[in-house]
Amino acid sequence: MDLPALQQRFAQRDREALQELQEAGQFIAGGPVDRFEADFADYCDVNHCVSCGNGLDALIILLRADQSLGNLPQNARILVPAHTYIATFLSIVEAGMIPVPVDVNPILLTVDVIEAQLGSFDAIVAVDIYGKLVDDEVYAFAKANNLHIYTDTAQSHGAKTATGVKSGARGRGSAFSFYPTKNLGAMGDAGAITCNDDLLARTARQIANYGRSSRFVNDVKGVNSRMDTLQAAFLNNRLLFLDNDNKKRYKIAQTYVEQIENEKVKLPELKFLEENAIHVFPVFVDDREKFVAYLSGHGIQTNCHYAIAPHQQDAFKELNHLQFPQTEYLHQTEVSLPCHPLLEDHEIQEIIIAINEYT
Ligand SMILES: Cc1ncc(COP(=O)(O)O)c(C=O)c1O
Repeated sequence: MDLPALQQRFAQRDREALQELQEAGQFIAGGPVDRFEADFADYCDVNHCVSCGNGLDALIILLRADQSLGNLPQNARILVPAHTYIATFLSIVEAGMIPVPVDVNPILLTVDVIEAQLGSFDAIVAVDIYGKLVDDEVYAFAKANNLHIYTDTAQSHGAKTATGVKSGARGRGSAFSFYPTKNLGAMGDAGAITCNDDLLARTARQIANYGRSSRFVNDVKGVNSRMDTLQAAFLNNRLLFLDNDNKKRYKIAQTYVEQIENEKVKLPELKFLEENAIHVFPVFVDDREKFVAYLSGHGIQTNCHYAIAPHQQDAFKELNHLQFPQTEYLHQTEVSLPCHPLLEDHEIQEIIIAINEYT
């Protein structure tokens, strides 16, 4: 991902934003944060956007806020897909809850695994991994079973369901990350919660700002997790480009699906292209190291999302005995191909040719 070139597109606007901020002298909260919250809520078709410091905090605060409203029990057991970034697991633990990991099929949470676990968990955190939205069926099943579902939308900014429902507008609440490499990325850490419930938004906002209800009154034990005003100003510049960038990502993904042909390189299912903001384009290769070295030799940089599943990390020793074959397969074989809005047609072709010639 050519991050410097991607950021360069905003250089002039960013300099202006920085100058305005220096002149205004308000570095926490203020106009740019208010504008981002209003515009991003609008963009996601929700009533509220509560900005915060990063995506991990957004998840923690979302869970804590709903627990303080009585919607999650003490020590709530949270069903979570094993195939995710470790932040999702950490957020559950940090919120004082217990992760109940389950396997995915092929990359996301599905109804059958949730159904099989009924009774062993209190709520669900779904994850739109690689930018692909979790199926509507999962939300319908949760609703039918009176289960709250929260979504880790750290990778799915701008994705839409077939009926036009936006990422961030599904379930009880969603948590976004604006880490620099995300489809909507800041120039540092930033995150946000989106939801429709007034009380949930108000409580989350309070927790993110020391638990205070007014200047000198603190009702709950909160944290300091506010989006920097400067990051909000940068995000305001970038939000305008998000849909167009996602369209370009989609075109690249479509070209990969149509033109990569190599039995050693497994593509995601065709359905992968639907309801997807294409944060990552994954392929699955048994001899990953050799493949990555081969591409690198052709000047093609790749990434990996991810190499070790959370339940296999030393940080989660208590989960190390669990086995999730599909998740483990993904973590052993996944390679993320270049997929960003500035990739040129000839570069895409070079990548495809190199992959098709791989033996
Ligand atoms: C799926 C997922 N969840 C949560 C996070 C955490 O976001 P952040 O790095 O902004 O804390 C990330 C980003 O790295 C992510 O990819």
